[in-house]
Amino acid sequence: MSSVFEGTTFCIHTFGCQMNKHDSERVSGMLEGLGSLPVETIEEADLVVFMTCCVREAADTRLYGQVASMKNIPLREGSPLGKRYSAVGGCIGQRDGEKLLKALPHLDVVFGTHNLGSLPGLLRRAIERHDRASEVLEAGEAFSSDLPTAREHTWAAWLPITVGCNNFCSYCIVPYVRGREKSRKLEDIAQEARGYVEAGVKEITLLGQNVNSYGRDLYGEPRFVDVLDAVDATGIERLRFATSHPKDLTDEVIERFGTLRSLMPALHLPVQSGSNRILEAMNRRYTRERYLSLIEKLRAVRPDIALSTDIIVGFPGETEADFMETYRLVEEVGYSQVFTFIYSKREGTPAAEMEDDTPREVIQDRFDRLVDLVQRKAFEANQAELGAVVDVLVEGTSKRDGAILAGKSPKNQTVHAPIPSGIDAAALIGSTVPVRIEEARTWYLSGTVVDA
Ligand code: 5AD
Ligand code: SF4
Repeated sequence: MSSVFEGTTFCIHTFGCQMNKHDSERVSGMLEGLGSLPVETIEEADLVVFMTCCVREAADTRLYGQVASMKNIPLREGSPLGKRYSAVGGCIGQRDGEKLLKALPHLDVVFGTHNLGSLPGLLRRAIERHDRASEVLEAGEAFSSDLPTAREHTWAAWLPITVGCNNFCSYCIVPYVRGREKSRKLEDIAQEARGYVEAGVKEITLLGQNVNSYGRDLYGEPRFVDVLDAVDATGIERLRFATSHPKDLTDEVIERFGTLRSLMPALHLPVQSGSNRILEAMNRRYTRERYLSLIEKLRAVRPDIALSTDIIVGFPGETEADFMETYRLVEEVGYSQVFTFIYSKREGTPAAEMEDDTPREVIQDRFDRLVDLVQRKAFEANQAELGAVVDVLVEGTSKRDGAILAGKSPKNQTVHAPIPSGIDAAALIGSTVPVRIEEARTWYLSGTVVDA
């Protein structure tokens, strides 16, 4: 099959969550395996793949514009294909299928979230037979974990343990485009993790829409704790996971933050709202009180744990009083990072049918107030790090200054420090260095590398 791809170049534009980023690594792995060369820009690329997200409307409308405007970009000199081929995959591909080919006459291929592996065949058909094609499956036949992966970084790996979601939060399109939750076998996960450790990977992030319910479909009961234990046992240096649904976060998992050597003191625990009335309308199946009790337990086990969350502002029917419940919750928890979203109506979800008459300006005002608070709290949380020595896993150099190294602390904070004299920056990448924190900003810390 490789012949048509030999000597071609490809680029992938990825939107949305880590699961999409990981899927892009798999697409990259497949195309590289067939002889195509990765490039950064559309200008240099013969094949362009868009890995799309439809969680909120903004990304959705942007995609159509981007694909349409591609026709104005000339093909690179020396391209063996005679024209540029483009493909849309990910969640919009899954949702819109054939409709995308109709709406975008320059688009060649559409594929879905359940059939990443079909992409090369569909592209080949387009190239050899000038046949525009879409292929979207209703549900995944199996976990597509046997596809090759071209990892973005040598020192870090994403390891999907489940795909899909059974939760049906009333605002969310994910269960419709990613399908029902499917878990991967524990042995397969452990084996992939061991392979990463042998290959020198320092950090593994377990991925799933709701990792906490891992195993229910396979073993009849959630067994996420077993995954944590198995991956820790591989000897990996740093272990993280995303995302956790509060309703399924068990005491056993919480306890691992105190006992597992590799589990980093950071947890992303989306709360979405601080109002019980809104949480119920969102179908989140926990209360504000239960959420706060989880935070209390986590801090009892690991007092220094860094917490982050997702919040939706302006859910249908949200009143000022509901919003203030959210505001006060954010104040009380003191997150190190909060991802704030304005509610975006997604056709086909239950929330799209709910009465929604809050004026746009009112929602924007709530959003702005929340963002101010989030920044103040993040700044405060970072101040507490002044003077501390933290282990930084080096990822590269600062975007603004090549003489400054950039990496992540155990709590997942971005840390900058001047590269010690006589040391080659490239040699530091993927290693862990101790840094004394001397300056704390809202979104990053900086300091000096100290002798280990
Ligand atoms: N509108 C706004 N935000 C949304 N999210 C999911 N669906 C919507 C929507 N319809 C947010 C949630 C989720 C994050 C990934 O995206 O906060 O946790
Ligand atoms: Fe969407 Fe809720 Fe599933 Fe997360 S848990 S993907 S918000 S339905």
